[in-house]
Amino acid sequence: MSRRPDDADTPPAVTISPPEPPRHVAVIMDGNGRWAQSRGRSRSEGHRAGAENLRRIIRAFADSGVEYLTLYAFSTENWVRPDDEVHFLLEVLREVILREARSLHEEGVRIRHIGRLDRLTPELRNAIRDAVTLTQDNAGITLSGAFDYGGRAEILDAVRALLADGVTPDRLTEDLFRRYLYAADIPDPDLVIRTAGEMRLSNFLLWQSAYAEYYATSVFWPDFDEAEVVKAIEAFGRRRRRFGTVASG
Ligand code: IPE
Ligand code: IPE
Ligand code: MG
Repeated sequence: MSRRPDDADTPPAVTISPPEPPRHVAVIMDGNGRWAQSRGRSRSEGHRAGAENLRRIIRAFADSGVEYLTLYAFSTENWVRPDDEVHFLLEVLREVILREARSLHEEGVRIRHIGRLDRLTPELRNAIRDAVTLTQDNAGITLSGAFDYGGRAEILDAVRALLADGVTPDRLTEDLFRRYLYAADIPDPDLVIRTAGEMRLSNFLLWQSAYAEYYATSVFWPDFDEAEVVKAIEAFGRRRRRFGTVASG
């Protein structure tokens, strides 16, 4: 059978552009302990490996066109862990911020914090404040670190501030409420990723994730690499978001 020239020589009439990446990705970085356990190593080594993973992941999301990345590093519930683990975790976070802030700044990353600062160690608090100030005018990806963050605490803090401002019930709208959240200028997450197999939010971005797409992987956080970032973003590209409308097709 003769080959029809147009099969091979003519470019396809329609070029399919790749789907838009999520604008805001939020990640529940879970599984440091299980990663360590699976290698016969201490939980501390797991947290260190998890912290070492941050740099490549921030880059991978930035390179994928994501504009906002929020990383859940320490929850309001994580204080109940043994003291030495809590101290180690906060210390590792401080070291990473001190070590990486300058190069992230040079790459144009804008660093933010969501959560409560008052219960963190003064050293970590200062490291966060310095990194936020250093990078505040950058135009690259906005990286929000959620340290001592809880969705319920955030909602209560917002309600307290609303009451303190004397906002009356008739004036309260969703739009006004969101302006009282920790990072009112950051859009809601489009994609929430959770590593290490669990299927729960664990008090993360409760208000903001109302219409997020969820992606769970069994990969432990220290093993979540560039290829996993691509997989998550591709999965998002196959989702059909409807926001309450009628399904089409
Ligand atoms: C994530 O890893 C780090 C934090 C929650 C602070 P975990 O320490 O929760 O790891 P697993 O869930 O015990 O494996
Ligand atoms: C969620 O992980 C919090 C962070 C990743 C910082 P946890 O390990 O604390 O969550 P649970 O306890 O399994 O729900
Ligand atoms: Mg965990």
